[in-house]
Amino acid sequence: SKQGSQERSLQVFTGTFVHSTQVSPVQILNDHILGVDKNGKIVFFEASDKEEKLSETWHFNKKDIRVLQPMKEFFIPGLVDTHIHASQYSNIGTGLDLTLLPWLTKYTFPVEAKYKDLKFAEDIYTKVVERTLKNGTTTACYFATIHTDASLKLCDIVDNYGQRALVGKVCMDINDTFHKYKEETSHSLEETQRFVTELAKRKYPRVKPIVTPRFAASCSSELLKQLGLFAKHNNLHIQSHISETRPELEITKRLFEKYENYTDVYYQHNLLTDKTVMAHGVYLSDEELKVFHREGAAISHCPNSNISLCSGLLDMRNVLKHQVKVGLGTDVSGGYSASMLDAIRRAIDTTKILSVQSPGYEKLSYKEIFRIATLGGSQALGLDKLIGNFEVGKEFDALLINVDVPNSAFEMFPGETNEDIFQKFLLLGDDRNIEEVYVAGKQVVPFLES
Ligand code: GUN
Ligand code: FE
Repeated sequence: SKQGSQERSLQVFTGTFVHSTQVSPVQILNDHILGVDKNGKIVFFEASDKEEKLSETWHFNKKDIRVLQPMKEFFIPGLVDTHIHASQYSNIGTGLDLTLLPWLTKYTFPVEAKYKDLKFAEDIYTKVVERTLKNGTTTACYFATIHTDASLKLCDIVDNYGQRALVGKVCMDINDTFHKYKEETSHSLEETQRFVTELAKRKYPRVKPIVTPRFAASCSSELLKQLGLFAKHNNLHIQSHISETRPELEITKRLFEKYENYTDVYYQHNLLTDKTVMAHGVYLSDEELKVFHREGAAISHCPNSNISLCSGLLDMRNVLKHQVKVGLGTDVSGGYSASMLDAIRRAIDTTKILSVQSPGYEKLSYKEIFRIATLGGSQALGLDKLIGNFEVGKEFDALLINVDVPNSAFEMFPGETNEDIFQKFLLLGDDRNIEEVYVAGKQVVPFLES
């Protein structure tokens, strides 16, 4: 296993913690003390002047406390990537000269077809899990490929490295442009069932299956129906893509003529639930957003991909006004970065571009976008009782940030406030500043050599 063995009964940290709550997009809490029990749960989080009292209650000694360096080190919650194609990692940073549909045909389907080869799958999946963890993604919602055994391999690797994830075996029974990458309708359902059964046998504590019809345009109504019923009867998470580009909308309209709109296609097939996360949603109407709100379904905002494939700009303010749950996604490799810090920056760019286009537009602040990347992502994946911030009772998924490491991408100047330093980390920081990563109290970065 790549995870440190920390059988200590209690871990205690003191210093600065930065996180979001429902009420406040960013709270910077100096001189705080946080305790994590052996199950990875946060058992106390208070001002440091409570230390003495806490040490009596929880039986820890001063020498066992990890003290963070003031103004240099702080904890933030782990970043939640609500949409990433693990399989497309081998294409990252290439092939972004096309728009979505020709891009799928020319670059994406051919690379996904390669995951029939388990050795290839293992190699790339190891790399993507290592990369995302180092970049601070403690929870990822992955698309794999149509291959069940390779998808299970991704689950094994995620568990071995100690990441938290939802993993989806991709389902698609229509592909008119790259014929060898699709399944028979009944096979797609049977293999999804086998994937869920085999994953359950492995008893991984933090890796869950997610039912994954690729998108309406690559699935027959029969397949969507079967997957919807399977998800419903087993209370499973669901992910797909929706309303990402205009040509895709046209195709979907033609294929599903009798439905009111794109959202209605998924809704009528039992695929729009409070455990659903749909990527993109750039062209959703207000009417459709109301249905998302009513059903409790979430949107994954993937700004790098939306710009890289020239898909469009999501109006996240309008999504929030409709009280629809929203998280951020990298959408590798439609998005060219596997870093959630990049997703934060591209989301900031997107909201600013929208405000240039429409004077008076109420843009999102960087603080709101940080909340969406952490607490928002946890809500979008239905994990907000478990993760998303440092509330007592949640599991400790956290990044130890150090802004003062050699060769990092930014410097510190005199007079900077904690808020300046935090903003600077979001805009200029990278994995060199992410010193340690914790999932459920376990240190998972740096990796232990095995
Ligand atoms: N729509 C259907 N498949 C895909 C995919 O792989 N990436 C993106 N960005 N959109 C999709
Ligand atoms: Fe995608």
